[in-house]
Amino acid sequence: MDFSILTIFPDIFNSFLSHGIIRRAIESNIISVNPMDIRDFASGKHRITDDRPYGGGAGMVMKPEPLAGAISEAKSKTPGARIILLSPQGRPFKQSVASELSMLDGLIFICGRYEGVDERIYELIDEEISIGDYVLTGGEPAALIIIDAVTRLLPGALGGEDSAEKESFTDYLLEHAHYTRPPVFEGEAVPDILLSGNHGAIADWRLESSLIRTLLKRPDLLDSKNLGNREKEVLQRWCEYIEQLITS
Ligand code: ADE
Repeated sequence: MDFSILTIFPDIFNSFLSHGIIRRAIESNIISVNPMDIRDFASGKHRITDDRPYGGGAGMVMKPEPLAGAISEAKSKTPGARIILLSPQGRPFKQSVASELSMLDGLIFICGRYEGVDERIYELIDEEISIGDYVLTGGEPAALIIIDAVTRLLPGALGGEDSAEKESFTDYLLEHAHYTRPPVFEGEAVPDILLSGNHGAIADWRLESSLIRTLLKRPDLLDSKNLGNREKEVLQRWCEYIEQLITS
C-alpha cells in the first residue's frame, strides 16, 4: 500500500514513521509513505500556498494550483490511489472505513490548513474524511491516524496474523479484558479461568467480557450488531442481574 501525504509540513512525519509497527511495515515493503511538500508545486520566489478569500473575511485559503500539481504528481506514482481530503466536514473515520481503505493500492492524503482549500479542489478528490467532530489546525494528525489504523490491517503488518481480527470494533464489540503477569497485583488476582488452560471456557469468558464492556462503555455499538444465541443469553443474564439489583 502506497501512502502519499500532501502537506506544507513534511517533516512532521519523520518521527512517527521511524518507530514500531509502522517502521517495520516500511522496512518490509508492506507500505511506503511519501510526504510531499506542497510548496514544491507553488510558483514564484516565495512559493506561496495560501491566499486571502474572495469576498473577504478572516483566515487564508489554500490555493488550488500547488495542490493540483502535487495531486497530479502523487497520482502518477500510484494511479490506483484514492485521493482523500482531510477535513472536519468529511465522512467519519471508523474501523469499517479503515478496513475498506486497506483493500486499495494506495491513498493520497491532502492535509488542509488555514480556513480550508479552494472549492475547485473538490473536482480533483475522491472523498473527504474526518477523524472526529473537532477542528484540528491541519490534516496532518488525521493522516497519521488513518495510516496507522490502515497499516495494522495489512497482511503481515502485525506479528500474529489473527491479532487484528479479534479486537475492538471488528464485529461491533469492544475487546475483552486482558491480564498478564504477576498473577496477583495489589491484592487483585487474575480470574482463575484464564489460568485453567481450558480453551473453551476461556473463549466463553472473553466473549462475556467483550459483551459486558460494550454494554457498559459503548451500548450504541450493539444497535448495529447481529447477536448470536450465546451472545443474547449472556446479555439476558446480565440484564436480569441488573434488574434484580434495581428491584431488591
Ligand atoms: N482537519 C482539521 N480538522 C480535521 C478533522 N477533524 N478530521 C480530519 N481533518 C481535519
